[in-house]
Amino acid sequence: MDSPRNLKSSRIIEICRLCPVIPVLEVEQIEQATPLAQALIAGRLRVLEVTLRTDCALSAISEMSRVPNAIVGAGTLRTPEDVRAAKQAGASFGVSPGATDRLLDACEETGLPLLPGAASASEVMTLLEKGYTAQKFFPAEASGGRAALRSFGGPLPLVKFCPTGGITPEKATHYLELGNVMCVGGSWIAPTSLLRSGNWAEIETRARHASQLGGQASC
Ligand code: 3PG
Repeated sequence: MDSPRNLKSSRIIEICRLCPVIPVLEVEQIEQATPLAQALIAGRLRVLEVTLRTDCALSAISEMSRVPNAIVGAGTLRTPEDVRAAKQAGASFGVSPGATDRLLDACEETGLPLLPGAASASEVMTLLEKGYTAQKFFPAEASGGRAALRSFGGPLPLVKFCPTGGITPEKATHYLELGNVMCVGGSWIAPTSLLRSGNWAEIETRARHASQLGGQASC
């Protein structure tokens, strides 16, 4: 049973615990959306974050959500308008680089489970006070990396993190050893170069490798 403090994050915690890595995706052409999702799922990564940084991002979320087993979220949520558009497109969850009251309110109003970003102890505490026990640690490497997260674990043991930003497969392994890390996020699995060349086989290979990091049973 969730404690009241955990209620706002209960669904996002379930999602974050499904796979050790959430691929952070920038879909430039809508034709990339379905084969990309299929390649990632074939590689055993099913929790996918599509960033709202391209013109077709919302359409991509809708298309990718129709691929069997995909759990597709919207990343780079910055405004209440982003939240409403993501929800309408069919996003199952949202991810934001930081957090504002307006953004948090919009997610609560629309019922979109949110993984809000934090980079300092004060930001982590502010979100915790509002009931967010799962947070994105961003930008992870630039904000102190693994050492910073390990330090948060002492005074702030209730908070679980998805570090994102500057993470490589090698670094991911070390983050996943920490007790307060649920999963990591990163763009290395499906970078723009591989999407542009349509190299779905390489994306599937990278996804399969990522799905085995941390020794977790993958989804
Ligand atoms: C992002 O939102 O851009 C993520 O932090 C991805 O960072 P990465 O490209 O360093 O993996």
